[in-house]
Amino acid sequence: MSAQILDGNAVAAKIRSELAEEIVELKKEGCSPRLEVILVGDNPASKSYVSMKQKDCTEIGILGQTTHLPASTTEDVLLTLVDRSNKDDNVHGILVQLPLPQHISEAHVIARISPDKDVDGFHPINTGKMVAGSECFLPCTPAGMQELLKEYNINPKGKHVVVVGRSNIVGKPFAIMMMQKKEWANATVTVCHTGSGDLKPFTRQADILVAAAGRPAMITADMIKPGAVVIDVGVNRIDDPQAKRGYRLVGDVDFAAAKEVASAITPVPGGVGPMTRAILLKNTVQSAKKFHTLL
Ligand code: GUN
Repeated sequence: MSAQILDGNAVAAKIRSELAEEIVELKKEGCSPRLEVILVGDNPASKSYVSMKQKDCTEIGILGQTTHLPASTTEDVLLTLVDRSNKDDNVHGILVQLPLPQHISEAHVIARISPDKDVDGFHPINTGKMVAGSECFLPCTPAGMQELLKEYNINPKGKHVVVVGRSNIVGKPFAIMMMQKKEWANATVTVCHTGSGDLKPFTRQADILVAAAGRPAMITADMIKPGAVVIDVGVNRIDDPQAKRGYRLVGDVDFAAAKEVASAITPVPGGVGPMTRAILLKNTVQSAKKFHTLL
């Protein structure tokens, strides 16, 4: 039997429509959520992500403002821009799209964003709070993955979650979130990475397998325990002359084969991606409410 498809597009659309209704009410109270997005350089994937984020904002009534800077922008100029948004009381969320050009320190830039406006949840203060299990902005992709599991009533409690990939954006924070003694978490967690050697003995143990390594089809069907839930976070562009854009998007999982082994699986595109964006909107609205003491 083929796996249940975890439809991130549908769940994200529901979140957006709930937020849109909430924003109508917030505006009546004088609270108008605003997100500042900063993109440096011309990475095609980043440009596409940023334009989707901007479109989402417009759809639900958030004022989304994108500043596109050239790749040659200095760290100082970027930090000055962040400072300006930090000081602007009308800005509730600041997002600097990653990766940044090599000559700019991502750590410096992230640390400069006010933790109260860090809707990405990347600031060290928010990371520290997340590790401690305190209230904070959670990083959008792992929070979106948790929300998707919740929506499909797949509870990680007592399950073995195996995460392939240890990035600061996905693998590490998702592992931490899943090990918390909290609702929709409380799992046993294993994190695999490039130093793990043969992955199959680990991935075969997963009740919930997360592929977040950024390598197309690295998770093959034989690496999945029958009946496991598979979350594919990979977004890889593969050349495809037949496709309109000349490429197509694939995940880190061999989807066609994996869906015959797993009990549930996220597609790429249409799985985790839209959930990431939905959580960004949620965090921005949350931040605006906090600013206007409407929480
Ligand atoms: N690049 C890839 N994912 C993300 C994300 O969630 N936030 C930011 N700022 N950059 C990213």
